[in-house]
Formats: sequence, C-alpha cells, structure tokens
Amino acid sequence: MNHTQTVGVVGCGTMGTGIAIVAARAGFKTRIYDLNAGNLELARKQAAAFLKKSVERGKLAEGEDAQIMAQFMTTTDISELADCDFVIEAVFEDLKVKHTIFKQLNDVCADHTIFASNTSTISITEIAGGSGRADRFVGMHFCLPAQMMKLVEMSPGMNTSEETFARAWAFSEALGQRPVCTRDTPGFILNYFLVPWHNDVINMIDQGVAEPADIDLAVKTALGYPLGPLELLDMVGMDTQLLLCEALHGVTNEPRAACPPLVKRMIGAGRLGRKSGRGFHRYDNNKIFGA
Ligand SMILES: NC(=O)c1ccc[n+]([C@@H]2O[C@H](COP(=O)([O-])OP(=O)(O)OC[C@H]3O[C@@H](n4cnc5c(N)ncnc54)[C@H](O)[C@@H]3O)[C@@H](O)[C@H]2O)c1
Repeated sequence: MNHTQTVGVVGCGTMGTGIAIVAARAGFKTRIYDLNAGNLELARKQAAAFLKKSVERGKLAEGEDAQIMAQFMTTTDISELADCDFVIEAVFEDLKVKHTIFKQLNDVCADHTIFASNTSTISITEIAGGSGRADRFVGMHFCLPAQMMKLVEMSPGMNTSEETFARAWAFSEALGQRPVCTRDTPGFILNYFLVPWHNDVINMIDQGVAEPADIDLAVKTALGYPLGPLELLDMVGMDTQLLLCEALHGVTNEPRAACPPLVKRMIGAGRLGRKSGRGFHRYDNNKIFGA
C-alpha cells in the first residue's frame, strides 16, 4: 500500500528537522527544503549528532548513522522536491506562507504526490484549499521531539480522498510511527487537553504556588511523565503556546484555553524557552542547568 520512496520536508526548524530524521531513518530518500541555508546547515549538524548518539546508545548499529545521513539531502531550491512522492510541510504557522509554498510545490511535483501539513492550529481543509490538490492533502501532526515520539495525529480535510488517507496512513506506518485518526479541529487530540492543562500550570507559577523545578519534579515523580510540564513547554516555545491558545480558545471558548498573561510577558522578555536559552528553565548548550 505504501509506494513512497522519496520524501520531501519543507522547513527545517524544530519540527522539520525531527521529521526529516524520522524519514531518513526509515530508509526514505529525504529532501529537506528551507529558505534559510544556515538553518539547513544546523539541521544537518543536529541530525548527525542525534544519530551518532543513537549509535552510542545501541539504538543503531555502528555505521548506520552515516548510511542514514547519506539519505539526507538539503536544498534552498524548492524545485529539487520534484521527485518526492510525499511532502510534509513544517514552516511557520501562517496560512499565507503555507499556501504560497503548496502552490509552488503543486507546480513542481508529480500528480501522485501527496502533500501533508504538520500544522498544530490551522485547519487542514483551509490549507488544502490553497494547495491546488485538496483531494491529495492530509494533516500529519507529529509530536515534539519528532525523532523520539512515535505518535502522529492524522486528519483528513473535507476534500481528502479515501485513497489519499489510506496511502498517508500506510506511509506513516512505514515511517515507524503510530498513527491515530482525528478530526480536522484545533488541538486535534493531545493539545485539546494539554493546552488548558499547561495553562493551569503557568497560572500556578504566576500565583507563586510553586517553582517550575518543583512542579516538574512532582509531576514526573508522582505521575510518571518523562518530562515535566514546564520542561515540555520550554521545548514547545512560548510563541507556539500563544498560537495554540488563540486557536483553541477561538474555537472552544473554554476559559482554561485562554492565553495566560505570563506567556505574553515571557514573550516580551525574550524568554521563549529552549530556542532562546531561557524559558521557565535556563539552558546552556541545550541542557537544563537551573530554574
Ligand atoms: N513547536 C512545536 O511544538 C510543534 C509541534 C507540532 C507541530 N508544530 C507545527 O510545525 C510547524 C513548524 O513549527 P516549528 O516549531 O518547527 O517552526 P520553526 O520556527 O522552528 O521552523 C520553521 C522553519 O521554516 C522555515 N521557513 C519559513 N518560511 C519558509 C518558506 N517560505 N519556505 C521554506 N522554509 C520556510 C524557517 O526558515 C524555519 O527553519 C508549524 O506549523 C507548527 O504549528 C509545532
């Protein structure tokens, strides 16, 4: 059922880099396109470092990291995605930007190529509407960090064909991921409850109930979560949390989904999370070294 051989990834930020690692590791030729050559170079370095660590941890055989990196091709020229059977977009959360990219892709890719968006908040149907191939379009929402998390939330748009959804599902399994089906709605499954829950935790901090490190420790110790909520929020980024809140609150009107004032203050202070070196925790060389 899965006929995909070559995968395109558009955008090599937090999510795109992880998705590209997943695709190359699963044996697909992987072409990563980004406007920013510096980001592509960084993505290549991050992928190589992650795969080297995987060898050291015994998750990959000796030399397998180099074989996977040989599948990993980066480009600033979108026309190099022409031979991709499946293209996953992971650029900024902006409908106009996504439409522009999909229009360009529609011109260069073959008719059988399926397009997917990793959007967290924008309607799949709306993005698909400006893609020129709404019937061959699907939502594929990977979890952060994509190279370590198995879940992919798969959502069909209103015009996605059954054949496309079946092919996308088979492709997701061929990537070694675990797909689940969800409606095209902001938050899909996980963020529907994670966003309000994270907002509760952020408000607890604003009210001085406890320090971030203590909340993280309590949740990890008692609930068995691998990451504390504030460690996870620092990976997600305050800018992304704001977008998630706006999208979810806009649709549900759920008061707990409204963006907490502290998130906006942190954005104003440049404390976006890991990407800026400081969020609820401080980061040195991407490792937590103190609250
Ligand atoms: N961060 C998360 O926790 C998370 C989780 C799941 C899904 N998502 C979704 O994934 C997508 C990407 O998020 P991210 O956090 O990886 O973003 P990011 O800001 O880390 O990376 C975006 C990348 O896209 C590139 N880009 C921007 N405009 C471009 C264009 N026109 N053409 C080519 N490249 C372009 C940028 O140079 C950058 O490298 C968004 O739709 C977001 O909603 C994010």
